Amino acid sequence: MPVVPTKEILDRALDGRYAVAAINVVNDLTTEAVLAAAVEEAAPVILQTSVKTVRMYGRDQLIGLIRGLAEPVPVPVAVHLDHCPDRAVIFDCLAGGWNSVLFDAHRLDVAENLRQTVEVVAEARRYGAHVEGEIEGIQGVEDGLGSDAAPVVQSLEVAVDFIRRTGVDCFAPAIGNAHGRYKAAPTLDHQRVSDLVAATGVPMALHGGTGLSDEQFTDLIARGCAKVNISTALKETYMRSSLEFLRDAEARDRWDPPSLFTHQRTAVMEMARRHIRLFGGSGRAW
Ligand code: 13P
Repeated sequence: MPVVPTKEILDRALDGRYAVAAINVVNDLTTEAVLAAAVEEAAPVILQTSVKTVRMYGRDQLIGLIRGLAEPVPVPVAVHLDHCPDRAVIFDCLAGGWNSVLFDAHRLDVAENLRQTVEVVAEARRYGAHVEGEIEGIQGVEDGLGSDAAPVVQSLEVAVDFIRRTGVDCFAPAIGNAHGRYKAAPTLDHQRVSDLVAATGVPMALHGGTGLSDEQFTDLIARGCAKVNISTALKETYMRSSLEFLRDAEARDRWDPPSLFTHQRTAVMEMARRHIRLFGGSGRAW
């Protein structure tokens, strides 16, 4: 199965009321491990990249690496650009082969955000690509973007009007969710997800997936969160497994890079599999 349009992955998930794990990968090892988990689970998957990762690798090198690993796998995969307020980077990634982008213009007022999102949707369509929209900001800083302040949440009417008039393919509502580790169990506005999906028929993206409870995931996915974003869990799993292995290597004075990579891969794969299963994605590949 080649890399497929994000909308195809999300619309099927919304119809089947399961969610696709959208996991922020940071390099070749984490990309391959997430893909391997999706293959073992026979699940569609979305590989996300932050703007920071795009800048670190350079566009062509990053998309070459991801597509090179994704294209041969037997499950549907889409490549998505996570939170991006910068139109130049959006355009560059659309032209470079990303299947979708999150145009994160929540810092603009809603009218200007809407006007620019209409343009981004038109740009994306020229590449057969799709767009996630956002008007509120998700609490927490991730890869240098965002804020710890609680977002100003717009009314249901404003959000529905934005989704309808922009034609976005997916929408990221603020419902009490946050990027990074939750300091206390969050109280989520799950009714807002139901109301947005009922009014628009558009799949919702659940941000801040790391640290939500199994029950919260299950409930929000049943209400129409068809894309669930996971970033912090990958970073922590990757780095903690590395630390654990390297501490042991130091204690034993044994330095074998391939064993380190196997250890990291196993840990990231297990993390990805756990989320894919929990989100109901297993066996959903076509
Ligand atoms: P976490 O870092 O909390 O998993 O959130 C990921 C996310 O929403 C990426 O946009």
